[in-house]
Amino acid sequence: MTADEMKKQAAWAALEHINTDGVVGVGTGSTVNHFIDALATIKGRIEGAVSSSIVSAKRLEEHGIPVLDLNNVGQIAVYVDGADESNHNLQLIKGGGGALTREKIIAAASDKFVCIADESKLVDILGSFPLPVEVVPMSRSYVAREIVKMGGQPVYRDGFITDNSNVILDVHGLEIMEPIALEKALNNIVGVVTNGLFAMRPADVLLLGSESGTKTVLAKK
Ligand code: A5P
Repeated sequence: MTADEMKKQAAWAALEHINTDGVVGVGTGSTVNHFIDALATIKGRIEGAVSSSIVSAKRLEEHGIPVLDLNNVGQIAVYVDGADESNHNLQLIKGGGGALTREKIIAAASDKFVCIADESKLVDILGSFPLPVEVVPMSRSYVAREIVKMGGQPVYRDGFITDNSNVILDVHGLEIMEPIALEKALNNIVGVVTNGLFAMRPADVLLLGSESGTKTVLAKK
């Protein structure tokens, strides 16, 4: 089974978590693309979707799923999104696709966050995947110097502009033992819009596609 087949398996399993007649929060990435295709099969039963990116909004619209403004829908019941890494507390690294800020906003505004991934994404310690940090363009060098002081190796994602017209630093070389503390510390650097650590608001459920079927991991309470 390929990684993409495992992603697809997890994405379709997420349908079981969708309440009928509500608004669904939709993330970004190759796993979410499978979820959008799955969601289209029950589109008559949902009011619409709030999207975390322009690219996901386009795919939703192509399927005839109404794309709604978060400001008009209030609290969302369920948000479904992928991840680049998850630890066993369902704290995540996200933003490989560059949509981290809107993803974090929708996660914050959702009652339940269902994360979908192939089983390779589950790790003991976050940080092998470079941590994306979205920054206001003029602050890029300053923020990079501050991150070096914190022990990271920031690499400018050259040529990439986010949906919010900002840029991304991918931070290598981190072994993230205290995800919440690092998430807060990075957010405190002036110029940082947000960072790809989802530790203060982790996922509630992790669906992992695997050779032996979809595994469900629940957040520890
Ligand atoms: C998008 O910005 C990311 O947060 C994605 O959710 C994450 O990179 C997972 O992507 P894949 O589903 O493509 O692995």
